[in-house]
Amino acid sequence: HAPFFLDCDTGIDDALALAYLLGAGANLVGIGSVSGNTDALQGARNTLDLLAMAGRPDIPVALGLHDPQAGTYAGGAPHVHGYNGIGEVQLPESGLELARESAAELLVRLARENPGTLGVIAIGPLSNIAAALRLAPELPSLVREITIMGGSALAPGNVTAAAEANIHNDPEAAAEVLAADWEIVLVPLDATMCHVLEEPDLEALLGSEQGAVRAVGAMLGHYFNFYLGVFGRRCSAMHDPLAAAIALGRVELLSAPYARVVVDTTQGPGRGQTICDLRGLYKGSPKPAGSRCRVVLDADPGAMAEIMRGALR
Ligand code: BDR
Ligand code: CA
Repeated sequence: HAPFFLDCDTGIDDALALAYLLGAGANLVGIGSVSGNTDALQGARNTLDLLAMAGRPDIPVALGLHDPQAGTYAGGAPHVHGYNGIGEVQLPESGLELARESAAELLVRLARENPGTLGVIAIGPLSNIAAALRLAPELPSLVREITIMGGSALAPGNVTAAAEANIHNDPEAAAEVLAADWEIVLVPLDATMCHVLEEPDLEALLGSEQGAVRAVGAMLGHYFNFYLGVFGRRCSAMHDPLAAAIALGRVELLSAPYARVVVDTTQGPGRGQTICDLRGLYKGSPKPAGSRCRVVLDADPGAMAEIMRGALR
């Protein structure tokens, strides 16, 4: 089983992604926490407590950056994820401790220990990943592939008209990570907004024999309420679990052209936008010279079933 490093801002859909990865038998060798949906420390607590509930206290969780490269942490998204990041659900306190390394240091160490095999799954702002690149500029040659939930290619943004939350929360970091020379699979809103969890899925999670899975179900009630305003019905887009399932190779990619992607780091209305050069679509998307970044525009609609199966296992 290929080893994976997960970097997240846990977060309701992050929690489901974690449940999915564990249930699907992914070999998670380390987890980093970054500010996004909630602050990095609260996100790490959420992750540790969930791991304890899932019977996986052995997976190291490292604290990552509180602030983005430019400015300071803006305070999360309580209207989406609750004040504690997990819809105000109170998990049993595990007392598990953080790793002694920072998230960036843990990622670099694991990449050096697993050269050419480590997969990275980044489902929060890219602050820790950019920090790791600065710490070890050779990181791209050590990592097998990085799968990123973030951005929007042709779809609208979700925090502004142009920008998706993970990229908007640290555009400078995202620009660095997307400019680095490694195999990137970018999973933007174009794909994730089409993979939606519905009421029967929520019921299935709430009926699980596993406490950790029931807890994730309880969190999702909060997420469903937010998405009522987006989709006009109670349901929720499953951004992070889709990226996780794609990283495991469990989801067929129906359209994932290679494209150069740059991030708008200006202070204007486009700040945080991922500008994906998809002009090749008109001629069948040949791989542009030098491009190692695929942009997932469409993925097998059966992905949610795989994710639910994984989570419920
Ligand atoms: C992304 O932002 C966060 O709110 C979610 O956890 C997901 O990673 C979606 O834009
Ligand atoms: Ca996330």
